[in-house]
Amino acid sequence: GRLGTGRAHGKAILLGEHAVVYGAPALAVPVPQLTAVAKARRAGGDGGDEISFAIAGLESPEVTSLPTDGLQHLVTEFRQRAAVTEPMRVDVLVDCAIPQGRGLGSSAACARAAVLALADAFDRRLDAATVFDLVQTSENVAHGRASGIDALATGATAPLIFRNGVGRELPVAMAGTARTARRSDPAGFDAVLVIADSGVSGSTRDAVELLRGAFERSPRTRDEFVSRVTSLTEAAAHDLLQGRVADFGARLTENHRLLREVGISTGRIDRMVDAALAAGSPGAKISGGGLGGCMIALARDRRESAAVVRSVQQAGAVRTWAVPMGRFAGH
Ligand code: MEV
Repeated sequence: GRLGTGRAHGKAILLGEHAVVYGAPALAVPVPQLTAVAKARRAGGDGGDEISFAIAGLESPEVTSLPTDGLQHLVTEFRQRAAVTEPMRVDVLVDCAIPQGRGLGSSAACARAAVLALADAFDRRLDAATVFDLVQTSENVAHGRASGIDALATGATAPLIFRNGVGRELPVAMAGTARTARRSDPAGFDAVLVIADSGVSGSTRDAVELLRGAFERSPRTRDEFVSRVTSLTEAAAHDLLQGRVADFGARLTENHRLLREVGISTGRIDRMVDAALAAGSPGAKISGGGLGGCMIALARDRRESAAVVRSVQQAGAVRTWAVPMGRFAGH
């Protein structure tokens, strides 16, 4: 049978998580070093549909955001959208090196890799909008109510601003992505985003549900949260484009304060944020779904990022990743 392959990567949300579900903009970056790779092998023989799914590389199988149900929906939807008329006899294996339940986009990346592998195996060319819709089919099953930012960011090559289902990549070079490879001038501002895992998995579905309940009880809390995060994220996007790293950092920390207020941070994440700031980081916050998961901290250069890493490890981080942000475009 024909073998198709597909790949996607993790993501980290810089600002706007949760508020983005209610129409605020959010900023995210791709994390190219965390990958999901899928292989779809079409089975020979005849007979009806025979679809099998397996996900390898899982380290916390207890996590319920595991997208297996979502992936089943995805195959059904793929058949319709790609107008496949022959029986779907296919084995899909996703090798996921993105830790689950850490707000790093593992479910969307697995789904995106699977969609691309299916398209390759069945020789279909899907446009970006169709790939997005298919990933969202799976995400909505995994998360209940997904804004779509993960579905896009797991395929992005630059920082992305996302609002109401529409994303736009910002002209900011990032190391390790296709966009950087096309750039001739890699010099300039050398910011690094430190991502640190609290070691505790948090369910995005539970976190989104928690806020839905709280916001139903107090629409005023929702409106204030959404409007404050909207201002912060819009301002931060300008900072990013203008190269204002200190201002950008301050907005991260302010967004953390707002997320903590609505109850999606944890004691350990708060300590890690404080530790990053104490080590000189211009800004730090929880990132993604919350109730555990990861925090992010900005560092101005490699040396600062090493100090931040040491400090967050002392505060309980079980592992860290450094994502070179390349240069802020203003520099
Ligand atoms: C998850 O990465 C981001 C959330 O805002 C949920 C969503 O946007 O679907 C928490």
